Formats: sequence, C-alpha cells, structure tokens
Amino acid sequence: MNKNILVTGGTGYIGSHTCALLLNAGYDVVIYDNFSNSKPEIADKIRDITGKNLTLIKGDLLDKSRLAKTFSENKIDAVIHFAGLKAVGESVRIPLSYYHNNVTGTIYLLQEMTAANCKTIVFSSSATVYGVKAPFPYKETMDLTPTSSPYGATKVFIERILQDTCVSDSDFSAVLLRYFNPIGAHESGLIGENPNGIPNNLMPYIGKVALGELPYLSVFGDDYNTPDGTCVRDYLHVADLAKGHLSALKYAAKHKGAEAVNLGTGHGHSVLSIIKAFEEATGIAIPYKITPRRAGDLDEFYADANKAGELFGWHAERSIEDMCRDTWNFLQKTKNGG
Ligand code: NAD
Ligand code: UFG
Repeated sequence: MNKNILVTGGTGYIGSHTCALLLNAGYDVVIYDNFSNSKPEIADKIRDITGKNLTLIKGDLLDKSRLAKTFSENKIDAVIHFAGLKAVGESVRIPLSYYHNNVTGTIYLLQEMTAANCKTIVFSSSATVYGVKAPFPYKETMDLTPTSSPYGATKVFIERILQDTCVSDSDFSAVLLRYFNPIGAHESGLIGENPNGIPNNLMPYIGKVALGELPYLSVFGDDYNTPDGTCVRDYLHVADLAKGHLSALKYAAKHKGAEAVNLGTGHGHSVLSIIKAFEEATGIAIPYKITPRRAGDLDEFYADANKAGELFGWHAERSIEDMCRDTWNFLQKTKNGG
C-alpha cells in the first residue's frame, strides 16, 4: 500500500475532505499548501474529525527548494495534487498567473517527484476539459474540444504533461480525475466551502443568501435549451468525490500509465431544481431573480460515470438533498467564525 501521501492543496475544499478520509483509512498525510485560498486552521479541523495527526507544510508549488526539501524529509509514496487556482473568470483576467501557478507548478512538482523516485499521482482535473463543443454525457474516450477559459486550458495542458510523463517513464502512474460540480460539506459540519466575498459558484452563493448575507440569488439565464430554461450540471457530494480519490489512489498503486476518469453522478440538475432542493432540505426560502446569461456558461452537461465504476468500483452515493443539508449544517456551524 502507498502509505505516505503528499496532498498538495490539502487544506482546500476538496483536499480537506480527502485528507480526513485518507487518515481514517490508515494513510499518513503530508499537506503542502500556500494558503492562498485556505487557512492552516483547516488542518486542526481535519485532526478534530479524525483524531489523527498529519504533517502540515506551508509551501508554494513554485518554490522548488521547498518542494525538494519536502520530498527529502518525508518518504512520499504517492501524491494527490489538488493545488491550483480555480476561478474561471479570474483566469480570463490574469491568464499568465493561472498558467504559471497551475502548469509551471505541476512541472516543478513532477520534477521533484521524479528526483525522489515517487511515480504515482492522482490529479484534480475538471469536466471543463471536454470544452465548449462536446456532446453530453461526457465520456472519457471523447476528443477534447477547445476550452472556454485559461483555467480550463491549464487542466488540458496538465493532463497532457502527465500523459507524456507516463509515456516517457513506464513506471509512472497518473489518474486524471475529471470532476463535475462538487458541492456539500463534511457531515461533521467542521469543513466545507465558504469563500470570502461574493461567491462565483452556485451553492456557495445560495448559502450566503440563506444566511442573509446576500439579498437574492441571480439565476444566470432562463432561456437555455434545457427543460426549465436554466443550466443543467452534474452536482456531486464532496464526500463522494473525496472517496473517489481513495479508489483512484489504490488503482494507481497497481497500474502504470495515465488514465482519465470522470467523477460525477451521471445525472443533471437545473439551477431552479437546486434552489427548490435547498429550500426543501432546509426550510429556508431562497429569493432569486432571473438575470442575463453569464458569459461562457454551457446549456447542459453531465458525466458518463461508468468508467470509475468499472475501473475502481466508485459510484456517487449521496443525493442532492444530502448535499443541500450538509451545506447548510456546515454554514450554520461556522457562520460566526467557528
Ligand atoms: P481550493 O481553492 O479550495 O483548494 C486549492 C488549494 O490549493 C487551496 O488550499 C490553495 O491555497 C492551494 N494552492 C493554490 N495554489 C497553490 C500553490 N501554488 N502552491 C501551494 N498551494 C496552492 O479548491 P478546490 O475546490 O478544493 O479544488 C481543488 C482542485 O480541484 C483544484 O485544482 C481545482 O481546479 C479542481 N477542481 C475543482 C472544482 C470545483 O468546483 N471545486 C471542479 C473541478 C476541478
Ligand atoms: N449560477 C447562477 N447564479 C450564480 C452562480 C451560478 O445561476 O450566482 C449558475 C451558472 O450559470 C451555472 C450553474 O449555476 O449554470 C453552476 O455554476 P457554477 O459556477 O457553480 O459551476 P460551473 O458549472 O460554472 O463550473 C464548475 C467549476 C469549474 C469547473 C466546472 C466543471 O466552477 O471550475 O464546474 O467541472 F470547471
């Protein structure tokens, strides 16, 4: 078994849930994060949830000597690579920062992994790699079409870099996990997603409206080619997504080469149906207004989720109701900085 796991971006939203599962499954965890979009205190929450200790390193992917020191001081068996910038709109405004952080950062990581003879990696890719012209459901065998943002392009480039690395070294193993739309929070209510400022994404925005911090939700367009006119996405619970990383890690330990795998439920839900589900799960009304479309949004996409089941036995288990309830539980527990 790969015992000692380096988790880049491990104090972030998806990383923190995955670290908790790793610790509970008996792995040792070294988190490497620069806290550009998270806080070191999240490591304490992970310790509280699991009752286990972990190693926390404040470090930047772009700091090669810090990365090298991390590999030399810790015998790392495998890497789960979450660290990256992820705001689609921001990536359009500052593309070079996105390419440098995400792509150069991954190259540095791979160089240090190679130097340390660590050849197993699970990477956070995204459904956005399928691009703007892909038919849905998205299947891993499909050709990738042009992406709508520099953020999406960084994921395509990193996937290619990992594939080429595996071609160049037959001992290398990379699983490229293409996430759909993760929402929800840990059942403990201790960790979840609560971005500073005005959120970009749907569920964090709904959360701020539910807390009374924002007056209403803007529903970006109701004239899409979907059953109720609002965009359809494949929302999955972050706890299911975290579990997918453990399955992928076990698979990667036994197989060589690069494998792209969707992590989604295989089902689409509209924006209006998510609002309704949140209201039903929490009893809180979410006022909303229909506003113009947001640039770059696609009508509809969801996963063909079969490959993850066939390859490593993973299926999403939690419902939209679970996702809404757990989001609300987390927001209530943490609203006063808890
Ligand atoms: P997040 O921002 O909560 O976590 C990312 C973490 O990486 C943060 O803790 C941040 O501080 C850290 N980080 C960023 N740049 C770094 C650097 N140069 N060095 C060290 N640490 C750095 O994001 P998340 O939602 O947990 O997403 C994790 C990964 O999954 C990202 O790569 C993201 O692109 C990808 N992804 C996320 C979604 C989503 O909807 N959340 C969907 C598809 C893919
Ligand atoms: N939406 C609103 N109002 C809001 C926010 C979102 O109506 O205030 C709508 C959007 O128009 C979209 C849907 O809610 O139709 C979901 O939007 P999100 O921003 O939550 O998610 P996206 O599907 O746009 O993007 C997410 C991640 C990307 C990732 C992509 C595919 O943010 O990083 O899923 O995995 F690339």
